[in-house]
Amino acid sequence: MNTNPDVKIYEYDAVIVGAGLAGLAAAKELTEAGMKTAVITKLHPLRSHSGAAQGGINAALGKDDSTELHEFDTVKGSDYLADQDCVELMCSKAPETIRWAERMGAVFSRDEEGNIAIRPFGGQSKPRACYAKDRTGLTLLQTIYEQADRAGIEVFDEWYASDLIYKDGKVSGVAAYDIRDSKPAIFNAKVTMFATGGHGRAYRFNSNAHANTGDSLSIVARHGLPLEDMEFVQFHPSGLGGSGVLISEAARGEGGRLFNSLGERFMTKYAPNAMELASRDVVSRAIMEEVRQGRGVGKDGQSVNIDLTHLDPEIILTKLPELRELAIAFQGQDMLKEAIHISATAHYSMGGIPTNIDCQVQKNAEGDLVEGFYAAGECSCVSVHGANRLGANSVLEALLFGRHAGENMVKALNDGVELRKASVTDADTMIAEMNTLKTSNGKERVPALRTTLQEGMTENAGVFRTKESLDKQLKSINSLLKKFKNIRIDDKSNTFNTDLQEAIELGHMIEFSKFIVDGALNREESRGGHFREDFPTRDDKNFLKHTYATMDKDFNMSQEWGEVVLGKFEPKERTY
Ligand code: FUM
Repeated sequence: MNTNPDVKIYEYDAVIVGAGLAGLAAAKELTEAGMKTAVITKLHPLRSHSGAAQGGINAALGKDDSTELHEFDTVKGSDYLADQDCVELMCSKAPETIRWAERMGAVFSRDEEGNIAIRPFGGQSKPRACYAKDRTGLTLLQTIYEQADRAGIEVFDEWYASDLIYKDGKVSGVAAYDIRDSKPAIFNAKVTMFATGGHGRAYRFNSNAHANTGDSLSIVARHGLPLEDMEFVQFHPSGLGGSGVLISEAARGEGGRLFNSLGERFMTKYAPNAMELASRDVVSRAIMEEVRQGRGVGKDGQSVNIDLTHLDPEIILTKLPELRELAIAFQGQDMLKEAIHISATAHYSMGGIPTNIDCQVQKNAEGDLVEGFYAAGECSCVSVHGANRLGANSVLEALLFGRHAGENMVKALNDGVELRKASVTDADTMIAEMNTLKTSNGKERVPALRTTLQEGMTENAGVFRTKESLDKQLKSINSLLKKFKNIRIDDKSNTFNTDLQEAIELGHMIEFSKFIVDGALNREESRGGHFREDFPTRDDKNFLKHTYATMDKDFNMSQEWGEVVLGKFEPKERTY
């Protein structure tokens, strides 16, 4: 019973944290099945980062395409680290997922024959990215939000979920506070799902929204639960030089070409067959190598050119209008008239909260499950992307596995899950964290520590890594963890206290970054997005394995290895 009037206790069948494509798809399924469902989100659902996905969502819809080819490209793209049973599920259900989205009202672009239009994307043997101009994520987010809203989901927006209620192997909801007035509450639930998106803000140069601070990763890790494959961070080849804002792969899919300062189309050296449409890890490394060799463009020489001026302007105006506007707004460069400056930008986390194929969270490498706990979308690691994700597979993953998680939660609830009653003390950790931050008179400041973290991660744990750079970053993170205990914020109020929220988020960023760096140090090979200059080749004998890492209360790391689910595609050398 709630004895503390300051902590309100809500009761639900299902609580979902995050309101992007994965969270809303799950919420829609649950609500339509009659389950009382709450969605908790820092932002209004329509501002979720899913809406920033530009270029497309993959499905083998082309005449000479097949779901098996989609599977093969995905497994090859993952550098053979993806779990092939999960990849098979995703690729085989992709065409139906597109039809489901279309039936709900998503307006896809069409080809001349009136079919859903598909465009080529990197690392794929056939054009298969279905799209809505260059606003695919936004179109899908609006559609799923409309339908989830119609089904009657309850949204707690501008609420910050700050702790998981986890005891005796079972999750029974979350502790959260209302950002408007800092009032704490407990969302007690039979099943709980995390769908909180990515963590790109840990890097200085990134394509992510400000909200993408990866909170749920360390919330889970603080309970001694593992994170999987965190060392695999995707760097998208085309972020606007200087800001990192995404210029969709669609720009290369529609024919954009990359040039260095000497006017060389340098991809001939790195991927002579696929050229600009090699997989993202390959193109990003090529760009950064050109920059390192002094052949970069722009004021600081840190970018390369993407040129679309040879294309029919109609292609840019009708298929890439937003990209053009972004380049004009951020850089004053009009892609109709000139090449624009781009560089590799931190974009996506392949790793995350480990789940089985049904989106149930695992508590160890052996696959034992946490009761009542699900995850889907970018914060999770199911794992369909392995060491490198193919463009347009993330929107697919979020929508498809979000819905799948929703269906599985409905099944579990129908089979009978008991509500373990919450106690107000379940909010104690969250309240203590808020009070400590608000009352501390320490001398450290959030912006300075955050900048140190972001710059160090970009410099030392970015596209290229070595033991030396990673050791340096680990040392920096350990020092940041200490300094964070001594942090002071100025705003002591309870109303829209963004100072407080940013401090909490920074704590999460520092902690999960340690997983990235520690995993990168332990993985003495190069695979997909993880490139060790001191171990430049893939080593299947020792490292065809998933990383499962945990952190104790003193921030010491432990790690075990988990089996990769192999299947019909034997690991081979990956060339493009
Ligand atoms: O380039 C893009 O449009 C991004 C797509 C993705 O990350 O899947």
